[in-house]
Amino acid sequence: MKRLFKNAVINGQRLNLLTEGAYIAYIGEEIPPADELIDLEGKIILPGMIDPHVHVRDLGQSEKEDWHTASQAALKGGVTTLFDMPNTIPPTTNRNALNLKREAARKSAVRYKFNFGVTEHNLREIKEILNERFADIAALKMFLAGSSANEYVEDIDTIRRVFDLSYQFDIPVIIHTEIQKCIEKYASLRPHPGILDHGFIRHRECTNRGTELVIKLAKEIGNPVYIAHTSTAEEVQMIRENKNKARIYCEVTPHHLLLNEHILHTAGNYAKVNPPLRTEADNRALWEAVSDGTVDAVGTDHAPHTLAEKNKPYPRAPSGFPGLETGLPLLLNEVKKGKLSLARLVELYSTRAAEIFGLNDRGNIRTGKKADLVIVDMNKTARVEARNFVSKAKYSPYEGMEIIPVEMTVMDGMIKYLRNQTEQ
Ligand code: DOR
Ligand code: ZN
Repeated sequence: MKRLFKNAVINGQRLNLLTEGAYIAYIGEEIPPADELIDLEGKIILPGMIDPHVHVRDLGQSEKEDWHTASQAALKGGVTTLFDMPNTIPPTTNRNALNLKREAARKSAVRYKFNFGVTEHNLREIKEILNERFADIAALKMFLAGSSANEYVEDIDTIRRVFDLSYQFDIPVIIHTEIQKCIEKYASLRPHPGILDHGFIRHRECTNRGTELVIKLAKEIGNPVYIAHTSTAEEVQMIRENKNKARIYCEVTPHHLLLNEHILHTAGNYAKVNPPLRTEADNRALWEAVSDGTVDAVGTDHAPHTLAEKNKPYPRAPSGFPGLETGLPLLLNEVKKGKLSLARLVELYSTRAAEIFGLNDRGNIRTGKKADLVIVDMNKTARVEARNFVSKAKYSPYEGMEIIPVEMTVMDGMIKYLRNQTEQ
């Protein structure tokens, strides 16, 4: 099957793109023969988003989200590859749980890989699994603090041994760097907390100390380390200073770029997330780090919970909110506002993740690459309306914010999402 996307804008030029089967076969000014012709009338073709940070849930938490709803939300947000995080029920920290997850993931409408969870007790199992070099394991994921019922690692010796394995097998470790003991210290100072205390309890010092530790060990050991959801000015400064001394990669989420603690006054628990939303000064520092290349990649940290759970009083409301449907559309709107170039955005949401995690067949628009494409019209705008989410989690701290919606998502050369067919 050959499909010709005519009159597209690709890397700033008016061109035609031919897909043949699952691959991009031609990009240029000619009009090669095709079975189907789609006139894009000047819309932009971008590579599909690669999202290394998604909590799909399913299995024991399918009321929050499952592989069907998560992957449909992904398509709507232009995400064609996602990595699922291991803090599921059961946690993906052993072979049985991995196999259960593999079975559930067969429902996925998008490409996926798994991030395998680290605990203080599963290093032997990790080694066995890495020895088998499964193509569906993208990275190891390690939490240094509790967040949504996961196991975390406090023991430095364990962290070192995980880094040794990461070095030996050349597989990145994705790290949530908030430190548990530090959070406990600050939590003890707020015996009756409300949502406005969230940023104090999960204090910036806690993630700063974790990031400092991780950088120090990464410099010693030399393994690839991907620091998840950097949220403070201090973190990105430390990463900036050390990036050329170790294999340190830096992720930022759309919410840590675009939102800050002020939104807690109106969004309440819907904006409760770990690490917390910080200050406007942190937003500015993260944007600076995006501009100067300190930040490598964007991950949505899609973390769905039920509305009933989010409506509980602060201490019992879980952290996290859905992000797959809003991530790329919100950032495209930032391009429109002149905050960053489209070329830089593509690096952040696709190209760098493909490089860091070894997805050589994806990450940019070139002949021979997978035909995983996102088509957008920069002149169309819409607003976030959580009640229309495909995700089961129908709430959002972005409610009402302006986005540039995805018009079409193509995977393997096939049209998997068409905006006007699914929305009024
Ligand atoms: O807010 C968060 N939610 N942060 C995490 O680290 C975990 C996530 C979740 O799984 O709900
Ligand atoms: Zn996460």
